Amino acid sequence: MDLGLRDKVTIVAASSKGLGRAVAEEFAREGARVVMCSRDEAAIRAAAEGVQRKTGAEVQWTVADVGTAEGCQKLVKTAVDKFGTIDILVSNAGGPPPGRFDDLDDAAWQKAVGITLFSAVRLTRLVLPHMRKAGGGSIVYMTSTTVRQPTQYLNLILSNAIRAAVQGMAKTLSSDLAKDGVRVNCVQPGRIFTERIEQLDSDTAKRQNTTPDAIRAHYEKNVIPMGRYGKPEEFAAAVVFLASPKASYITGTSLQVDGGMLMSMF
Ligand SMILES: NC(=O)c1ccc[n+]([C@@H]2O[C@H](COP(=O)([O-])OP(=O)(O)OC[C@H]3O[C@@H](n4cnc5c(N)ncnc54)[C@H](OP(=O)(O)O)[C@@H]3O)[C@@H](O)[C@H]2O)c1
Repeated sequence: MDLGLRDKVTIVAASSKGLGRAVAEEFAREGARVVMCSRDEAAIRAAAEGVQRKTGAEVQWTVADVGTAEGCQKLVKTAVDKFGTIDILVSNAGGPPPGRFDDLDDAAWQKAVGITLFSAVRLTRLVLPHMRKAGGGSIVYMTSTTVRQPTQYLNLILSNAIRAAVQGMAKTLSSDLAKDGVRVNCVQPGRIFTERIEQLDSDTAKRQNTTPDAIRAHYEKNVIPMGRYGKPEEFAAAVVFLASPKASYITGTSLQVDGGMLMSMF
């Protein structure tokens, strides 16, 4: 299927590794022009060069912390300076640290709001003028299945609380921006195997006095009907489709990519 992504200018935030990296590569494979960032110069350079080498696509990268206003501005400016417009934004950032309510002070909450919510707010604000000028565009927010079912992750209260705000913003925007030809959707990873999941499993193992392998085995045996963690490329395929012109009548939706983990009907 041709997704219609050839030459589409696509920002994939927070993309030196994990889900962001896989999403950037999948867009590049579809012929999009991709702009990547992370906070670490060596890491983002290597990731962008890797994507370019594997796909032959045009890839631009920058060092930018999307938890800051300057970082968001730098990322969007990099895209516009290089390619002149922006067709697609994939809003992503590093996940907030684990912790339960009693572990977290105001500073921890504020930092997590800055990274998880404000990255989405600012990147959206910065790309919209370009999308409106071009007569349309597409935004995908990477959130989490915890937005639908937070209670199984008691030690992720920052993520559970703040991603819900992103989800609410996305749903609201999907109605508001339809008149501008901008589609807005969310993709929710369940347990897709990346360094983040490795770290969370180690943290849970420490709290439960067991091993990360035992935590993973628990999820794979008892929680995920498909019996395994997902692969980043499986998540990326969903993002790329929803962002693409092939999904032209889909807006305001949230697609979970979780091997059947969520038990809710919707
Ligand atoms: N993997 C899953 O199954 C899963 C499930 C639910 C939710 N999520 C969420 O999805 C997002 C991506 O997850 P992941 O598994 O890909 O995480 P990951 O493996 O830890 O990768 C995170 C990426 O984001 C970059 N990054 C982190 N903070 C950044 C910042 N402030 N500015 C710019 N780049 C930043 C990192 O690069 P640098 O360190 O070089 O900046 C890295 O490239 C996270 O928010 C995570 O919580 C993931």
